Amino acid sequence: MITIERWAAEQIAAAMPEFIELLWDSVDGGASVGFLPPLTDAVAHEYWSGVHADVAAGKRIFIVALLDGKMVGAAQLELAMRQNSRHRAEVQKVLVHSSYRRRGIGQQLMAELENQAHLAKRTLLVLDTCRGDSGEPLYRKMGYIEVGVIPRYAEIENGGFCDTVIYYKQLA
Ligand SMILES: CC(C)(COP(=O)(O)OP(=O)(O)OC[C@H]1O[C@@H](n2cnc3c(N)ncnc32)[C@H](O)[C@@H]1OP(=O)(O)O)[C@@H](O)C(=O)NCCC(=O)NCCS
Repeated sequence: MITIERWAAEQIAAAMPEFIELLWDSVDGGASVGFLPPLTDAVAHEYWSGVHADVAAGKRIFIVALLDGKMVGAAQLELAMRQNSRHRAEVQKVLVHSSYRRRGIGQQLMAELENQAHLAKRTLLVLDTCRGDSGEPLYRKMGYIEVGVIPRYAEIENGGFCDTVIYYKQLA
């Protein structure tokens, strides 16, 4: 059974090796999520340490998907902190382990991010993703609206680039 939970900083710290493995799985599987393969332990650890610090500081909401207690996915909301932006948050790093995809876990993570955004009084969600990546159909299915495309925005493996698509969703 899948459960979706919001985790505090201490819980993230305790499961650091699992999060490193989750990120590694996506990056080495070719997903454009900010890193290039091969992802080293040190780079992944530095990234998750930053996530941990942001969650501890109240700047980031972190949720996980558990399948019978095993962590199989995670997603984040970075809360905009400027005075004129406190209605806004960015959806980041929606990751489902490759062994557990296409079972609706990504959709459940996105739904809980929206719930958490609502609780945090964030009514505008923004995100970006590489054109053609697996996140795009998920975001469209969840009602995100395409704003536009920035060509050659992110480097991908083998020296190529991907176009990035910007999306938003206004929550009721
Ligand atoms: C994107 C991702 C989180 C989706 O997770 P998931 O658990 O497989 O998603 P779901 O099963 O909830 O899919 C919901 C819907 O999204 C769409 N979708 C998801 N993955 C898709 C894919 N690879 N191809 C086409 N449509 C896809 C489908 O409409 C799907 O519904 P369906 O299975 O009934 O057709 C997962 O593929 C992943 O972790 N990818 C690597 C990391 C990444 O690129 N993250 C997004 C950018 S940060």
